[in-house]
Amino acid sequence: MLAGRRIVLGVSGGVAAYKAAYLARRLVEAGAVVRAVMTQSAGQFLGAQTLAAITGEHPVEDFWDEVEVSPHTDLGQWADAMVIAPATAATIAKLATGLSDNVLIATALATEAPLVVAPAMHTEMWENAATQRNVETLLADGVMIVGPLSGALAGGDTGPGRMVEPEAIVAALEEALAGAPARARVLDLAGYKVLVTAGGTREPIDPVRFIGNRSSGKMGNAIAAEAASRGAQVTLITAAAPPSGSAVDVVSVETAQQMADATWSRVADVDVAILAAAVADFRPTGVGDSKLRRGDGLPVIDIEPTPDILAGIAAMENRPYLVGFAAETGSLEGARRKATEKGVDLLVGNDVSRAGSGFATDTNEVTIYTSSGESDSWPLLSKPEVARRLWDRILEDRTPG
Ligand code: PMT
Repeated sequence: MLAGRRIVLGVSGGVAAYKAAYLARRLVEAGAVVRAVMTQSAGQFLGAQTLAAITGEHPVEDFWDEVEVSPHTDLGQWADAMVIAPATAATIAKLATGLSDNVLIATALATEAPLVVAPAMHTEMWENAATQRNVETLLADGVMIVGPLSGALAGGDTGPGRMVEPEAIVAALEEALAGAPARARVLDLAGYKVLVTAGGTREPIDPVRFIGNRSSGKMGNAIAAEAASRGAQVTLITAAAPPSGSAVDVVSVETAQQMADATWSRVADVDVAILAAAVADFRPTGVGDSKLRRGDGLPVIDIEPTPDILAGIAAMENRPYLVGFAAETGSLEGARRKATEKGVDLLVGNDVSRAGSGFATDTNEVTIYTSSGESDSWPLLSKPEVARRLWDRILEDRTPG
């Protein structure tokens, strides 16, 4: 989504400016071409040279020092999208009123590209009626607002006003580039630690062959990406390719044993675990160092069970909220049974024999089961939409009343 896209990164003067360097790096890693524009006060918090080293171009800092006649219109017209992070109360006020008294605001006014704004300021300033009015104005003008979060602020204070993490800004940018209507992004998973498994494990038969399955990782990736875009801190343990732009911490594994070790060593630290991976139930024993040869005759391959990752979590004394998946064919009765027997909070059943459902598709048709056997069937939806509804459902479940 971001590969090859031209992103203008605007930085205004707040302590969260240090995170703009990390954001720039995330964008460059995702393949975007990034050019930065900063206010004078941003320079008090972040060196222009840092942004230059990350983006490959010296940031625009002023109207007058530039070789270009009109740096703000050049940048504004060049952009596929612009993001301002951090956006101070003053920057938001100037944007809302069109007060173009610095090169950052002038660039924002000179662009027709989608604009994403990540506010960062003290709680009192964020909650001030003027700031809230200005934010409403920006939303009405089609600006995407991401954050702020509640958390530690400059000077030892705590409260709403903390800039969201770069991963959430990347997700908002992707949404804006995809043409989504402007909205205040709800960061209802902020503060949550989440673990997701994805992909199909591969169990070696010999050094070149394996027992595997057709899981692409799309379902797990969508769940992980949705959580990150809603402010969660996400670990994705995957046997497939992770989501592009990767706003999540990725742990790549191959076998069921590796997935079990990676999951069990991290799961005590999370609030929610969602196991969407298709984990092999059996693996060959005694895998040798050399390739099995046709000339040696038909091999006899002994198998043994793999560790049951879900069962290991379900048995924990203080386990996280636990969501399992069940890939079934023909009927979802097995999924209903697993929901009541496996010690999960929710179980997502999908009939992988149905068209458009299950393995390697962009869509999925799922039924959600509770541990008491109640069910809720959803229509055929895109996997990102299944992920969005699943997180809504989990939050509903976790919020009493
Ligand atoms: O990756 P995609 O191509 O997008 O496809 C998505 C999917 C079809 C893989 C996904 O929607 C799905 O159904 N995942 C679970 C597949 C599966 O292995 O189901 P199961 O019924 O065999 O396992 C039940 C649960 O136990 C699953 O949460 C599984 O992750 C877990 N399990 C299974 C075996 C094992 N040894 N350890 C486990 O933890």
